[in-house]
Amino acid sequence: MTPFIPFLHDNNCLHAEQVPVEQLAETFGTPLYVYSRQALISQYQRYQSAVSEQDMICYAVKANSNLAVLRTLADQGAGFDIVSGGELERVLAAGGDPARVVFSGVGKQPAEMQRALEVGIHCFNVESLRELEQLQAVAASLETVARVSLRVNPDVDARTHPYISTGLKANKFGVPVEDAETFYLQARDMAFIEPVGVDCHIGSQLTETEPLLEALDSLLVLVGRLRTQGIELVHVDMGGGLGVSYEEGEQPPDIEQYIAIVHDRLAAQGLHLILEPGRSIVADAGMFLTRVSLLKTGEEKNFAVVDGAMNDLLRPALYGAWQRVVPVTPRPGKPALWDIVGPICETGDFLAKDRELVLAEGDLLAVMQAGAYGFVMSSNYNTRPRAAEVMVDGDKAHLVRRRETLSELLAAEQELS
Ligand code: LLP
Repeated sequence: MTPFIPFLHDNNCLHAEQVPVEQLAETFGTPLYVYSRQALISQYQRYQSAVSEQDMICYAVKANSNLAVLRTLADQGAGFDIVSGGELERVLAAGGDPARVVFSGVGKQPAEMQRALEVGIHCFNVESLRELEQLQAVAASLETVARVSLRVNPDVDARTHPYISTGLKANKFGVPVEDAETFYLQARDMAFIEPVGVDCHIGSQLTETEPLLEALDSLLVLVGRLRTQGIELVHVDMGGGLGVSYEEGEQPPDIEQYIAIVHDRLAAQGLHLILEPGRSIVADAGMFLTRVSLLKTGEEKNFAVVDGAMNDLLRPALYGAWQRVVPVTPRPGKPALWDIVGPICETGDFLAKDRELVLAEGDLLAVMQAGAYGFVMSSNYNTRPRAAEVMVDGDKAHLVRRRETLSELLAAEQELS
């Protein structure tokens, strides 16, 4: 399936689907997150159409948890991968089916486990023996059975940024594959636990599939060993991780090709597949729109100070991430090198560095591939209200989260009484 391209220039003006981005800035102000409904649906469909009916695509809510995003995916029949009780409530509020929810994360609280059991989620991705014991206690108190999958740490190098690499022994995630058998034997003997699967998630923004397939093979060896012990697992959950193209030349794996390989290996063993993609579904479907407040030229550097900042889009500051910056209305002229920086009092407050652009004050800039890990990682640092979010559908733009107000920010606080 060819991906839908949501943001294109037409008549020298960037459009989000059919809506001129200038118009979005006028109507909703900046900084602003803009999402394309069609792009979301088309990326999800690429996954869904490559798997069988018993398989599940569980969108990783953490990548972008706006209710309109979740509703769009729920309407397509998506499942969801959650990591907190908060994300569970979002999925339910957006009409997601709890029977298609998997619950990941190293530190689930008993109250979160209880709620998830009450609404009947599909499976808990358990990350330690202690967590299994805690889950068994909660399930026993509700006299219900918790379906579980063990998150195995296959000790493979995902070859991505260290902060988002999770499959190495040195990482806090999962259980070493050598200890997995003991885990399943204990799980089998627990009255309120039913082992149904095995899972892993070795990292994010992967640009090659070899580490994923290496991890898959080690899970399949484990599944085979468990079979000889009489433990029949039903599914293998490969987590998320497929990258997107932030930079030109960065070639992420082809979704359909990757799934075809995984699917074949699992089908040969009679296993179902679960995937938890986040970034590869939403990154391309979103952009972050910001306006140039002023230009500050210097001997060594030129700075374009914009109204968006690291509190709005943290990836460049936190990971040194590179995201494409595109002028909404490109102007003719000789380009200069610019650092695109926010108004926050930190040198780390930049959205981009050394970009060749022709800029003037008041220009609108779009930071691309900002649909994933953008708004969700935003904060109120420097007492900055968080940006608004808009979803475009054809020629219509819907406000899906209004801009925060300063009075809201102050409302939760009080002075000594
Ligand atoms: N499943 C689990 C258990 C995860 O921990 C993650 C992401 C996913 C699925 C989704 O992975 P994806 O398909 O999006 O790669 N804030 C970072 C990314 C953190 C990813 C955390 N886990 C960034 O902005 O690059």
